[in-house]
Amino acid sequence: MSPATPSSRTHKSLSMAQLALLIAGAASQGLKIGPSIVEVSPDFNSVFPFNNFNRNVSVASWQTNLLNGTSAEVNEDLEFLANATFITYDESFYELLGVNSYEDIKEIETIFTFPPPPSYAQRQIHDGTVYIPETDTIFFAELYSPKPGAYMHAIPFVWQISNASTTSATASKAYPSPALTIANGAHYHNGSVYWAQEGNWSTPGGLVRMDPFTLKTEPVQNNFYGHRFNSPNDVVVSDTGRAYFTDGYYGRDNFKDSLEPELANGVYRWDLQTGNIRMVAGAADGTLFNPNGVAFNAEQTRLFVTMRGFASGDADGGRTMFAYDITENGLANRQVFAYVDSGFPDGIKTDKDGRVYGAVTGSVDVFDEYGTLLGRIKVDKDDVAVNMVWVGDHLYIVGRNKVYRVQLNTKER
Ligand SMILES: *[C@@H]1O[C@H](CO)[C@@H](O)[C@H](O)[C@H]1NC(C)=O
Ligand SMILES: *[C@@H]1O[C@H](CO)[C@@H](O)[C@H](O)[C@H]1NC(C)=O
Ligand SMILES: *[C@@H]1O[C@H](CO)[C@@H](O)[C@H](O)[C@H]1NC(C)=O
Ligand SMILES: *[C@@H]1O[C@H](CO)[C@@H](O)[C@H](O)[C@H]1NC(C)=O
Ligand SMILES: *[C@@H]1O[C@H](CO)[C@@H](O)[C@H](O)[C@H]1NC(C)=O
Ligand SMILES: *[C@@H]1O[C@H](CO)[C@@H](O)[C@H](O)[C@H]1NC(C)=O
Repeated sequence: MSPATPSSRTHKSLSMAQLALLIAGAASQGLKIGPSIVEVSPDFNSVFPFNNFNRNVSVASWQTNLLNGTSAEVNEDLEFLANATFITYDESFYELLGVNSYEDIKEIETIFTFPPPPSYAQRQIHDGTVYIPETDTIFFAELYSPKPGAYMHAIPFVWQISNASTTSATASKAYPSPALTIANGAHYHNGSVYWAQEGNWSTPGGLVRMDPFTLKTEPVQNNFYGHRFNSPNDVVVSDTGRAYFTDGYYGRDNFKDSLEPELANGVYRWDLQTGNIRMVAGAADGTLFNPNGVAFNAEQTRLFVTMRGFASGDADGGRTMFAYDITENGLANRQVFAYVDSGFPDGIKTDKDGRVYGAVTGSVDVFDEYGTLLGRIKVDKDDVAVNMVWVGDHLYIVGRNKVYRVQLNTKER
């Protein structure tokens, strides 16, 4: 048991006089600087305030490099952006944050810090993020590989946050039985948790149903007419009982231990009642390489799918959130909903007002229903946002290192 230790990040130590100075000092550069929120002006956003700049696509926007020269003012602006808890690109972001302007204080709480992975693991990732209202519990998966190029360990536990909606939220390990084999995304439907698991050489990947009370598991979907999936990554299940899950080469490309692929990457639809399984996006309608997160809009009429591409650091990587219309026979009208500016969008969630939230490297990026970037909800400087889950009007964000929660002026549905 590891007690959750709430804390929050703001810049309360600044006096009003200091703040006034900061605001005056930065105004000429096109940033409006509050104690926790920095607003980026259209001018700053359109013309970077230094002539020669560039950025490695693996890092966040506030880590843009100044080339062949430097500017104390621009460096300071980047530091303000790096230090901010929220970055605003569109004033409608304030309605979501429940504040009037950048001058108001808005907090994000850190509710849990994961212990580091074993010393042999290069990095750990947390994913899944599923909330069980009946028990006020959130589950997260943990994944790590023993070394680069080696397979993810089949980890016997998942994390659970008990009393999740309260101030005494508590994190502990929970042991599904039988164990999940490289669990990733998860969705709660009709009293059960549905996990997408990558699988390994001896246990095929697919969907596993878990009873949230007893933690008993059973595979419910593990093949396409005798073919193994590659590495199922995330799943949502509609109210009418249709599961949509992504399948990419993550296991094979990252961890080198899967069988040779037998299927193209794509999104599958599986009908829980009839057992019908079909690909609804991917090979047939254009490349969908390493699809990852999947989410419905609140009305369950659209499906959002994120795509990494081969590697998140590749300049020409996918880095895309696609939107589709859900039809009786599959998905239609694929659109580039958003192309993100760093890493790739991993987990994806939506709210009742049409917004879409993508976990993108150092922040959760928030888009309106038309794909306009409204703002960023940042995680700690050394952390990477991976996925999210709603508990009432709180968005819980799981990173590689920590779990955060932030109260927002909306909810899931
Ligand atoms: C970008 O940064 C990543 C991580 O630090 C590094 O592995 C990669 O080589 C860099 N890419 C370029 C083009 O410099
Ligand atoms: C930037 O500086 C490097 C050496 O410091 C030089 O090789 C390069 O040509 C310069 N680039 C530009 C665009 O001035
Ligand atoms: C950013 O935060 C660091 C650490 O708290 C602080 O030393 C620095 O002055 C801050 N920079 C700006 C521009 O506020
Ligand atoms: C959850 O809260 C209840 C009521 O305060 C308490 O009895 C219970 O021990 C808590 N559960 C955990 C796992 O901390
Ligand atoms: C593969 O998964 C099974 C079932 O979870 C587990 O028993 C086995 O140890 C895993 N293999 C490796 C190499 O992790
Ligand atoms: C929900 O589960 C019950 C059995 O527990 C089943 O009868 C019902 O068809 C399920 N509904 C959906 C929409 O899957």
